[in-house]
Amino acid sequence: MRYITTPIYYVNDVPHLGHAYTTIIADTMARFYRLQGHETKFLTGTDEHGQKIEQAAKERNSTPKEYTDKISAEFKKLWDELEINYDIYARTTDQTHIDFVQAMFLKMWQKGDIYKDQYEGHYCISCESFFTKSQLTNETCCPDCGKNTTLLKEESYFFKLSKYQDQILKWYEEKDPILPKNKKNELVNFIQNGLKDLSITRTSFDWGIKLPKEINDDKHIIYVWLDALFIYISSLKTQKEKFWPAHIHLVGKDILRFHAIYWPAFLMSVDLPLPKFIGAHGWWTKEGEKMSKSKGNVIKPKEIADTYGIEAFRYFLLREVPFGNDGDFSENMLINRINAELSNEFGNLLNRIIGMSQKYNNGIITQNKVLDLYKNELDEAMQYLKLAIDYLENLQCNRYLEEIFKALSVANLAISKYEPWNLIKENKHDEANALIGLCANILAKASILLSPALPNSCKKISQALNFEISTINYEKLIIHNELFDFKATACEVLFPKVEIKQEPKQEIKKEEKAKIKIEDFSKIEIKVATVLDCQNIEGSEKLLKFQLELENKEIRQVVSGIAKYYKASDLIGKQVCVLTNLKKAKIFGHESNGMILSAKYNDKLVLITPEQIIDNGALIG
Ligand code: ME8
Ligand code: MG
Repeated sequence: MRYITTPIYYVNDVPHLGHAYTTIIADTMARFYRLQGHETKFLTGTDEHGQKIEQAAKERNSTPKEYTDKISAEFKKLWDELEINYDIYARTTDQTHIDFVQAMFLKMWQKGDIYKDQYEGHYCISCESFFTKSQLTNETCCPDCGKNTTLLKEESYFFKLSKYQDQILKWYEEKDPILPKNKKNELVNFIQNGLKDLSITRTSFDWGIKLPKEINDDKHIIYVWLDALFIYISSLKTQKEKFWPAHIHLVGKDILRFHAIYWPAFLMSVDLPLPKFIGAHGWWTKEGEKMSKSKGNVIKPKEIADTYGIEAFRYFLLREVPFGNDGDFSENMLINRINAELSNEFGNLLNRIIGMSQKYNNGIITQNKVLDLYKNELDEAMQYLKLAIDYLENLQCNRYLEEIFKALSVANLAISKYEPWNLIKENKHDEANALIGLCANILAKASILLSPALPNSCKKISQALNFEISTINYEKLIIHNELFDFKATACEVLFPKVEIKQEPKQEIKKEEKAKIKIEDFSKIEIKVATVLDCQNIEGSEKLLKFQLELENKEIRQVVSGIAKYYKASDLIGKQVCVLTNLKKAKIFGHESNGMILSAKYNDKLVLITPEQIIDNGALIG
């Protein structure tokens, strides 16, 4: 059983990149648990009570109920648009939740953990959090968000937080529940400075849950954080016993304190088990600045997903920053990752496998001889994939993706190293087919393990290679390291290259070149050749490396600067025109023996190709 939660988001504002980040990590984890065969629940939802929401509704001339219904629906719509596969969409205005919070409050009261007193101190409405004067920044500002605090003086019920100080420290010590692990020290310091009892009711506004009727005190409503945290249990309804305690509460670092200090204390008070892990991720900024409506730099997840695709967006968020670190959003970085990783390493590998298997063996891919011939490569890829699992278990999504991509590059490098087109030429069909078998098995294993992060793309791969992404196959291909046979069918391009923004158009220079004699032209040798393989050159945006077949099956390597205009795998099988008697050169460390002809057109380069398929090596003149 695995239960994972996101925070329930405040409905004072519409969802943005930060909310999407948390929700996408949680969605990836939930899909991973399901893949492993765990019965899984994944909760997200909205936090709808409290002073901040009451104010937001007022500002929009709306009642709190109308307003929260509207914004809560917007969050839900976004998660549906982003294909987030949640099981529970929880709202704190649901009656079952209200009843549950009152029952828990009563339990704490009956236990003697709640007493009535007077609260005097500062309150940050934006964080819905209490502070003493000495905790404030510049005398009046919230130490967490920097906004102005309000001075409160009101009757309040208090929770005996101080009573649980040692038990919380003991829990950290024994269970190590905080991820990433280095976040524990901050919390320990905070607790060791001394925990104060916590004000858990308010009287100066109405929008919240009333005290249980047994306490008979109508003036008070329950503090929004006590209300909100209990959603994690109340929403399980009849399945509380089955799914509680949660496996992971995923939160941003801004609200770690509420989850790692207040929440366990509340749970201890009502005698419920504590969550297994609390994972706190870092903060996203936009070009170094905090995202805010007033700055107009809020990133809308839907817009990014519409422009670049849901899966590229997911990949970027999961891959870009180490779990727990802050991240900065830039579209260029996103484009780079699409082109260099998703397109070149991942999508391209599928195209190479399909292309080669269809050309050499009618799309039939077997595992025969893979172990005899390519055991080292297989073992290396497996090592990376096993590591990826460990990383993901600990929420280190970036390391998880990194390891999977290392496995993919084992396959891509094997193709470059063993050159199947040469193997075929030398009549080594077994070697060539086993190489394709190796690559297809690595890709299938990687796709199964990558499916929690990129469900749709991995599904397309499984359809193209004709296998299923399932718990059984996770066990076979990943846990037991079995090998499969496949049957490849053509597949759309998974991650088309994204063009980097065009530079301003250049004036076409009309140069008159000096006239030459026919003898001069006859020095030039241009021939037709077929592209056997084509790959991007690592570290270069411009260059593609071609293996070209000329007459008598002569193979030549040529480097050409057309990577911005063509996708490498699309060129395999095409015929091109090559200047063959050019002196050899090294370009970017790669030998180039010839020049592929192309024409300049609208700031692009367009390949020159024969009007019909003709013999390789045919002379042009
Ligand atoms: O705190 N970068 O709700 P909230 C990364 N209702 N993550 C971000 C982010 C950013 N810039 N902005 C928001 C609340 N988040 C309470 C929670 S739970 C019982 C109650 C994400 O709407 C991140 O997960 O302020 C953060 O913790 C959460 O949204 C805060 O959402
Ligand atoms: Mg917040």
